[in-house]
Amino acid sequence: MRVPFIAGNWKMNMTIAEAVELVNGIQIGLKWPEEVDVVVAPPFTALKMISEVSKDSYIAVSAQNIHQEENGAYTGEIAASFVKDAGATYAIIGHSERRQYFGETDEVVNKKVRVALKHELKPIVCVGETLEQREKGDFFTVIEEQLSKGLEDLTKVLASEIVIAYEPVWAIGTGKVATPTQVEEVHEKIRNFLKKTFSDEVGESVRILYGGSVKPSNSQEILALPNVDGALVGGASLKAPDFINIIKSLPSK
Ligand code: PGA
Repeated sequence: MRVPFIAGNWKMNMTIAEAVELVNGIQIGLKWPEEVDVVVAPPFTALKMISEVSKDSYIAVSAQNIHQEENGAYTGEIAASFVKDAGATYAIIGHSERRQYFGETDEVVNKKVRVALKHELKPIVCVGETLEQREKGDFFTVIEEQLSKGLEDLTKVLASEIVIAYEPVWAIGTGKVATPTQVEEVHEKIRNFLKKTFSDEVGESVRILYGGSVKPSNSQEILALPNVDGALVGGASLKAPDFINIIKSLPSK
């Protein structure tokens, strides 16, 4: 059985004080939920503080990005080992905003996935098509390429450490949610890809999240889909009650 997974991607929001208030709000509002992995991804500056505040709670912490090299002359960048040192146990990799605004390619994603795993950070690897790619029809080819290049040459053992987030670019921050049929179709294809590429066990065990305008009013329907194991939530994760209600809307599958 796959343990459901709800992650909040705070993006470029939250000072340290605001981040502490938000994480406290989640902890006060939701006592230890059974059988759910709850993860928050604050900005780098709040990582250590949020890791400390969440230490004895059910909340785990993720970085929103890492650099693909281990260290060296890369002014302004943050290494996997640094976020691990600050208390993170996950790293979001290949978010569409990184791909779109920072030129992140599938090859870079693959390097980041490897460096994360080397430093015992579990990668949350994001894939998803643009509106133009969806309208052209053959959008799963795009997703399959993101997956095959992004996860290239991983062993089965390492592949089983990964979490995948399917985030159609046209649904991120736009209020447009993919329909349940659209979501389930892609999730099933991603799971089949994992089975084919790695093994049936890997395909069955890897959690596949949906992301893109998830909010309390639509989460129940999405999270009930057979191949959806959770959500990567942006905007709605910035308000404790909304984030809590999304966690509470998980079905018992
Ligand atoms: P959104 O963002 O929930 O605000 O659409 C999701 C994401 O980018 O991870």
